[in-house]
Amino acid sequence: MFAALPLLDPFSVFRRYKDMRSLGLLGMNQRNHKYIARYNARSLFPIVDNKLHTKELALEYRLTTPDLLGVIDNQHDASLLDRFICDKEGFCIKPAKGSGGKGILVIKACEQGRYQKTNGDWLELAAVQRHVSNILAGLFSLGGATDVAMIETLLVPSHALAKYSHHGVPDIRVIVFRGIPVMAMMRLACTESHGKANLHQGAIGVGLNIATGRAINAVQRDRCIERHPDTGVLLSELQVPRWHELLRLACSCHEICGLGYLGVDLVIDEREGPALLELNARPGLSIQIANNAGLLPRLRQIEAIKKPELWTVDKKIEFALAHFSR
Ligand SMILES: Nc1ncnc2c1ncn2[C@@H]1O[C@H](COP(=O)(O)OP(=O)(O)O)[C@@H](O)[C@H]1O
Ligand SMILES: [Mg+2]
Repeated sequence: MFAALPLLDPFSVFRRYKDMRSLGLLGMNQRNHKYIARYNARSLFPIVDNKLHTKELALEYRLTTPDLLGVIDNQHDASLLDRFICDKEGFCIKPAKGSGGKGILVIKACEQGRYQKTNGDWLELAAVQRHVSNILAGLFSLGGATDVAMIETLLVPSHALAKYSHHGVPDIRVIVFRGIPVMAMMRLACTESHGKANLHQGAIGVGLNIATGRAINAVQRDRCIERHPDTGVLLSELQVPRWHELLRLACSCHEICGLGYLGVDLVIDEREGPALLELNARPGLSIQIANNAGLLPRLRQIEAIKKPELWTVDKKIEFALAHFSR
């Protein structure tokens, strides 16, 4: 059981937000003006707003990230998809400029020219090609702008975490401020989120102790929960494996992209360990609800330091462990 965390009725969310203000909750305006505008140079946005550019950067610096099997950038080539996936057991197709889980197609098995989604449904090749075609047409991209489709190797969640997610790979969001990890949460897919680990689609957010990677609180649609709604697994027992490796990877992401206020999305792959999924220049604020703690006191502590960006990764992690542990 999570220590001293009352279960909330649906009407108490507003009260909860008010309570959290006293905990130093960072609001949207403050985030935009005080942190994003000040610490994230606009010239750096294109790197993180396009998953293909992010992947190229990660590969240049040898950070672990799912392999790129192929890129399709025009409608004619959608019919050539087969050449990228024919010998693969599983793969993931996503829009380079997508967000919020939109347009992500995860195929976990292939058999006799048919492709199985994470929820168990099977698709014919033509349906997968149509999905690529929709991505190219901009169906999932901001403002309907045309896009390119990326085909990636399938990530397989680490054994220790697989039981916590239903029909999807759980991911871990770390907020990194001026190179120092400040807050983290794990996002778990469930039936309601259609196998996506995105909170506004109904996924579960589990706040994590930044020092240990152990669960401290869990929420779904801003309500505290104790068990995974599909599997019944007790969320307070969740412990992310290879936690310090994961923190190192999150810190390295700041070093390669230069964004001062950064959201890093990572997964723990069974074979590869911590791997980078994507970077975010405007990370959401619900990580605070998942952690039952505000970001402001932590951000202010870091603002009081002179040039922490120049510290070694070890020193940045030591600081986080010493100051933000719960
Ligand atoms: N290569 C992959 N293998 C398996 N699942 C994936 C893969 N890439 C993404 N996913 C799933 O899709 C979710 C969203 O992926 P992400 O790349 O972060 O896109 P978005 O910007 O839409 O959030 C992840 O949390 C994970 O559950
Ligand atoms: Mg994401």
